[in-house]
Amino acid sequence: MISNSLAIEAVNLTKIFGSFKAVNRINLRVEEGVIFGLLGPNGAGKTTTIRMVLGLLRPTAGWVKVFGIDVEKNRKKVLQVTGYMPQYFSLYEDLTVEENLRLYASLYGLRGEALKERINELLDEFQLREFRGRLAGKLSGGMKQRLALSVALVHKPRLLVVDEPTAGVDPNVRRYFWEYFKRLKEEGVTILLTTHYMDEAENCDKLALMSRGRIIAEGSPQEVKRLAFGGDFIEVLLESKNSLNLGELEGVIGVAEEERRDGLVKLRLLVDDASERLASILRFFESKGTKVHRAYQVHVSLEDAFIALTTRG
Ligand SMILES: Nc1ncnc2c1ncn2[C@@H]1O[C@H](COP(=O)(O)OP(=O)(O)OP(=O)(O)O)[C@@H](O)[C@H]1O
Ligand SMILES: [Mg+2]
Repeated sequence: MISNSLAIEAVNLTKIFGSFKAVNRINLRVEEGVIFGLLGPNGAGKTTTIRMVLGLLRPTAGWVKVFGIDVEKNRKKVLQVTGYMPQYFSLYEDLTVEENLRLYASLYGLRGEALKERINELLDEFQLREFRGRLAGKLSGGMKQRLALSVALVHKPRLLVVDEPTAGVDPNVRRYFWEYFKRLKEEGVTILLTTHYMDEAENCDKLALMSRGRIIAEGSPQEVKRLAFGGDFIEVLLESKNSLNLGELEGVIGVAEEERRDGLVKLRLLVDDASERLASILRFFESKGTKVHRAYQVHVSLEDAFIALTTRG
């Protein structure tokens, strides 16, 4: 993340279908060179947002720029620098794997040796060589995803937009896709993706969580978790709590839980920043003469955060 320029900037972006607000005045800033995950329940508006970013759907209101290019005014230019893998397979089912790649490569202006080379690269990269003569419509689900990703990459876009790229893909290929995404990122490519897999979302640099057309949380995976629960959790196992005044502790927002276990007291503390507070919490109990058996940060999952945030209000 060396660059500070924006790959995507959307302001007030809105899409209304009839009277239904599918995307409702969202603002989006995606820095160049990051892996950005758009999360949210089914129907939240992720695909609709993506389609507006790529200029495939006209916003009802608001605007979006890709690498500073106004998408509405300069769609062609945007298409040249972006690659798109749609949520549903949309390639030519009655063309072979290789013919699909050739077609898209030539649409993007590749010719002769350069075209041949790029197609060979992609056939190898995504292990499609042995299927290159097979009709796309006859591929298995996971192979279709591999072909769709190859096609999205055929012109080496600066921004890769992938809508649920790993849906229906086996664990090995899923891991491979992610290794590939990280490699692209190292080359400076920006990736905007959607996923319903929270372990994948953990791999993103930044997340935006959408619900009912709005962005309800944003930040790094860690920040999104904090937003969901109001802080980090630390658990401490103490000999006894006696009459300690936890209010004296800096950074402690609340005591979320208290229970006795094996003669010990277990406290669950909500703190602003666990890594910063853990040591001072230990020192606090020590200074009060209370023996601490264990103290550790409780790792909440992104799935917990997702559910907490999307079922609220
Ligand atoms: N062309 C359209 N006409 C009418 N309504 C639409 C259209 N496209 C999308 N919608 C509606 O907009 C809402 C958002 O759809 P969208 O496909 O963006 O959701 P999503 O977040 O991508 O969901 P999923 O996780 O299921 O892919 C849904 O209620 C959908 O039915
Ligand atoms: Mg979708």
